[in-house]
Amino acid sequence: MKENILKYLEKNKYVSGEILAEKLGISRVAIWKQIKKLKDLHYEIISHQNLGYCLVSRPDLLLPDEIQKGLDTDYMGHKIYYYRELESSNITAREKARSKKDEASEGTVIITEKQTGGKGRLGRKWFSPEGGIWLSIILYPHLSPAYIPRITLITAVAVVKAIKELTRIQGLIKWPNDILIHEKKVCGILTEMSAELDLINWLVIGLGINANIDHGEFPEEIKDTSISLKEILNQKISRVKLVQLFLREFEKCYNMINRKESALILNEWKLYSHTLGRKIKVKVGNRVVIGQATNINDKGALIIKKDNGECLEIISGTILK
Ligand code: BTN
Repeated sequence: MKENILKYLEKNKYVSGEILAEKLGISRVAIWKQIKKLKDLHYEIISHQNLGYCLVSRPDLLLPDEIQKGLDTDYMGHKIYYYRELESSNITAREKARSKKDEASEGTVIITEKQTGGKGRLGRKWFSPEGGIWLSIILYPHLSPAYIPRITLITAVAVVKAIKELTRIQGLIKWPNDILIHEKKVCGILTEMSAELDLINWLVIGLGINANIDHGEFPEEIKDTSISLKEILNQKISRVKLVQLFLREFEKCYNMINRKESALILNEWKLYSHTLGRKIKVKVGNRVVIGQATNINDKGALIIKKDNGECLEIISGTILK
C-alpha cells in the first residue's frame, strides 16, 4: 500500500487524501495512517489543507522498497531484511541461514544502517557507522567448499564493477578481497559458511563499503588506511543505487560460478588486481611467505614465486605488506 501511495505522490505534485482513498479503495483515515508510516520512515511529505499531500523527498535510507524498486535481478535481493541497527549483519544472516530456507531463500539480503559489533576478517572489528553500506547475502550453492575462494573473489569483482559504474572510479582488489582506492581500503568482505566435506550447506557473504562516511569519523587506528567514497568524490553517493548495481553484478558472477564458468571472472579479477606483479609478504596460518605475486590460478588461489624460484599456491592468507 505504501508503494502505491508513493507512486501517486511521485506522479503528481499534490494529491488529496480523497483522491488517494478513491484510487486505492481504502478510507481517508487509512490513507492518513499510511502517510504517517511513510513519514516515520523519513519520507518527507507535506500536507496542504486544500491541495492534499506532496512528496518532498525520499529518505536517505537503505529501505527494501527503495532498493527493490528498479532492481533488475532474477533472485538476488528479492528478499531483504532491513534493520536500523544490528550487532552484525553477518550474525543475523547466519542465524537466518541456519533456520528454514523459506525465511532466507537463495540471495536473501540482510542490511542495516549501522552495526554495533561489525566483524572483520581474522577476528578484527569492523567500523560500521551510519552512512556506510553494511550487508550480508545468504546463499546455498550446490558446490564443494573448494569454490569458496572463487566466490570470495567474484564478490570483489562485483563491488569494483558497481563502484565503477556509479562513480567512474576504478577500484583495485588487494588479494583476496579488499577493495582499494588511492591505496586505501574502501570495502572489505567477510565470507562465512557451514559445509560438509564435499558440499556447502550455506554461505554468508558480508560486505562493508565505506560509502557516505566523513574521514574524520574513522577511528585513529584505521584513519591512515581507510577511505570513503564520499570523501573521494566530495559528495554523497546514492547508497541505494550502489546496492542495486552490486546485486546485479554479483548475481551475474555468482550464476557463472554455479555453472562452473569461473575463468572469465578470474580474468576480470586479474584485470583489477592491486596484488599481481608486486613483491608481497603473506601471513598463512603461523607462517610468513615472501615473494612475487605472479598469478591467480583457476581455483582462486594466489601463486607466489619465492626468491629461490619455488612457486607456492596460497588458498587463504593475509597480505602484510
Ligand atoms: C574485512 O575486510 O576485514 C572484512 C570486513 C567485512 C565487513 C562486513 S560489514 C557487513 C558484514 N557484517 C559484518 O559484521 N561484517 C561484514
